[in-house]
Amino acid sequence: MQSPPTASQLANLREAAQTVAANAYAPYSQFRVGAALLLNTPLDADKAVATIVAGCNVENASFRLTTCAEQAAVARAVSQHGPHIRILAVAVANLNQSASQPCGACRQTLLEFSLPETLVLYPGAGNQPAQQLLSELLPAGFALEHA
Ligand code: THU
Repeated sequence: MQSPPTASQLANLREAAQTVAANAYAPYSQFRVGAALLLNTPLDADKAVATIVAGCNVENASFRLTTCAEQAAVARAVSQHGPHIRILAVAVANLNQSASQPCGACRQTLLEFSLPETLVLYPGAGNQPAQQLLSELLPAGFALEHA
């Protein structure tokens, strides 16, 4: 069990999600999303500052090829830090002042690198900061059991 993220780490995480949302490529939906992951990487053990990796949504004229911000962040995190990353917390933000939680597909993507205590921070009703455990947002995610 990891020690829980501090309030200042979570504030930094929300800020990183908001900042990266400005880079979103969203000409079709105009819904610019950012996601920031607070990671437990193999290199973090001796560091005072935990690693944050962020990503934004990248849309495509063929709409179903769009990449969500959470998926972009996870791909970037694995690319930069390798396959053993764990997500302590994830913050999602958008530039539309809208309530929004990670979509179903993104919940499953996050689950792949999650811990039982992985926390999801998102803009809730009235754009007020809200949070829930990933296990609450996706109580019955898919896991591949090998025979
Ligand atoms: N989007 C995300 O980036 N993350 C989500 O969890 C939900 C939706 C993006 C996809 C699309 O570019 C835009 O938001 C509108 O659906």
